[in-house]
Parts: sequence; structure tokens; C-alpha cells
Amino acid sequence: MLLRSNNFMVKNIAIFASGTGTNAKKIIEYFSGRTDIKVNFVVSNKEAAPVLNMAQSFGIETLIINRAYFYKSEDILQELNQKGIDFIVLAGFLWLIPDYLVNAYTNQMINIHPALLPKYGGKGMYGMNVHRAVKLAGEKESGISIHYVNAKYDEGNIIFQAACSLDESDSPETIAQKVRTLEHQHFAPIIESLITRR
Ligand code: GAR
Repeated sequence: MLLRSNNFMVKNIAIFASGTGTNAKKIIEYFSGRTDIKVNFVVSNKEAAPVLNMAQSFGIETLIINRAYFYKSEDILQELNQKGIDFIVLAGFLWLIPDYLVNAYTNQMINIHPALLPKYGGKGMYGMNVHRAVKLAGEKESGISIHYVNAKYDEGNIIFQAACSLDESDSPETIAQKVRTLEHQHFAPIIESLITRR
């Protein structure tokens, strides 16, 4: 029998998330049992973020970062290197990504945004803030944008968008629900297509 390590074939994903982690969970579940693509690291800037417990329940290593660590040192690069991280996914991670990390993962780091960029993007546009703004503007549709990450909020090249229609009866909460359904449906398959195309 031929025994050999196939580690060079495995693509490792790190997920950065600040909140509940429903997208992170979908991604972890999607790739669980796979030998070619693995989520093996979850990073959060919030000690109490539910995403941390969720990741640990899947046996995934987690790291909590603070501003000094993230912006005044480049130590996270060593962590990512040690774990062989090929691809970074921002799933509700709300800090701006510093240049050193953008440069290290050019075209290998993506974000999901809960609106149809370039509308409703930029600093402060996250979570329910986005859906309230969409409602206030009386938009007839909203959706999701998956894009490469650069050093500005929500401005990297768009990879994929999906839309949902809205009507007057929609509230920010129902808009959030519709958008979340699209996120859960599309994010993991898009990650897979980007990684396997490489
Ligand atoms: C998602 O809706 C994601 O699009 C959004 O945060 C939510 C995280 O939800 N990201 C942004 O608003 C980034 N600007 P989750 O923790 O349940 O995955």
C-alpha cells in the first residue's frame, strides 16, 4: 500500500468573524468531512463572540485579537503561516484589514457584505445599519456582495452578487432575513469555486 502525506493538496481556510457566526457555521459545515479544503482557524476581535464557542465545538482552533496586536504588530502573519492558511474569509468581521495582511493575502481574502455594493457600503455600514438604510431609501431590492478585500471598507473587486426583491411591507428585520438566506446559500459554494479554481 502506498502511504504518503497529501498535505500539499489541502487548502486551509481561516475565518475572521466578530459576531454570531451563522455564516462561519455554514462554511464550516459545508467543508466538514472534506480532505481537500479545511476550515482550521477562526479569529475574532471579540472575546464574547458566539462564533468562538461554535468554532470550538467543531474542534477548530480560535484566536482572540486586540487592536494593538492587529494594527501595531504583524504577529498574526506568523500564526497564519504556522497553520498553513491559504485563504481568509471575513464573515461579519468589522475591523479594517491592515495593509500588511491585505498584501500577504492579495486575491486570497474575501468578504461578504449584506447589500448590493457599491450601495450601502463603507465605514459604519454593517449588519442592521445596512438594512435600516435600505428600508429608509425605499429600495425595491437588496442582496449580497462577495468581494476581494483591499485596504478600504467594501471596495475590493466584486466576485459575486445575488439579489432579493423587497416590497413596502418589508421591515429592516425581514430584509435582514432575506439577505441572510442568500448569504447562507451562496457564500460557501463561492469560496469553494475560488479555491478549487486556483
Ligand atoms: C453578515 O450578514 C455579513 O454580511 C455582515 O455581518 C453579518 C454577520 O452575520 N457583514 C458586514 O456587515 C460587513 N460590512 P453572522 O455573524 O451571523 O455570520
